[in-house]
Amino acid sequence: MTPRKIIIDTDPGQDDALAILLALGSPELEVLGITCVAGNVPLPLTIRNARLVCELAGRRDMKIFAGCERPMVRDLVTAEIVHGETGLDGPDWDEPSMPVQDIHAVDWLVEVLMAADDGEITLCPVGPITNVAMAMVREPRIIPRIGQIVTMGGGYFVGGNTTPAAEFNVYVDPHAAAVMYRSGVPIVTMPLDVTHKALMSPEWIESVRTLGSDVGRKAAAMMSFYGRYDMKRYGERGGPLHDPATIAYLLEPGLYGGKDVFVEVETHSEITMGMTVVDYWHRLEREPNCHWISEVDSDGFYKLIRGRLMNLPAKS
Ligand code: RIB
Ligand code: CA
Repeated sequence: MTPRKIIIDTDPGQDDALAILLALGSPELEVLGITCVAGNVPLPLTIRNARLVCELAGRRDMKIFAGCERPMVRDLVTAEIVHGETGLDGPDWDEPSMPVQDIHAVDWLVEVLMAADDGEITLCPVGPITNVAMAMVREPRIIPRIGQIVTMGGGYFVGGNTTPAAEFNVYVDPHAAAVMYRSGVPIVTMPLDVTHKALMSPEWIESVRTLGSDVGRKAAAMMSFYGRYDMKRYGERGGPLHDPATIAYLLEPGLYGGKDVFVEVETHSEITMGMTVVDYWHRLEREPNCHWISEVDSDGFYKLIRGRLMNLPAKS
């Protein structure tokens, strides 16, 4: 079977790191490149972290691109409180040595999509949508060439994790998220509504730690560090592992359940800035613009991740 061509747009972030590792451990997927964006931490650190994760996975050949260092309109808001000062706190890391590509991520997104057949490439943005939106504005002809966008962001029944109304990725760059939802590209959204139904457990993290590989040890250390914030905030035994949901959906869509809905993003009121307003009961009678995921087989999700981590090299 021909691997599905994907591009991961990311602001690593420990959960982004697990999404990247899941993708690189899955032969069903061909990761054409990783585009970095400012989000959890500033851009220089998201680039560093993407390099560290690819080196950990034994993929020094991966093309990594530096993207936008700030949102389209608003000032950058970061999340060191969740991810630590480096954005990848938890394990002990050496500094990376693999290269970053010379071309800007937005320019590469345009270039690679313009060279692709219609629908050939899937985008998996798991940070603020800035790079993807900027590419769409710079070259609208890429829009029909994007086969699907599977993104982590937003929240409706669960509300927000950054303000009462907004989830972090959409809160940081609501204008970019609005561009994406208006684009007409087929979108599958993994919001907090579903990611909060699949929480890590200490036992599962330990089962990753004991895989007997550098990947297992570092992944467990990342998740132990990263999960503590949400465990305290929500009073649960484990935190949600947000970003790998996008990759898991591509690998095993049967793990998930959702509904076609119309979504708009608040970009005016400071009180609800970045809120994903979901017309869940079709009151506006607008054409749906996304498949909004709200159900997940949590055990299947975590079994899938652990199983694919075993495909990665034992020693990085
Ligand atoms: O709200 C969760 C999202 O914000 C995840 O993508 C996490 O990595 C942060 O970027
Ligand atoms: Ca992220």
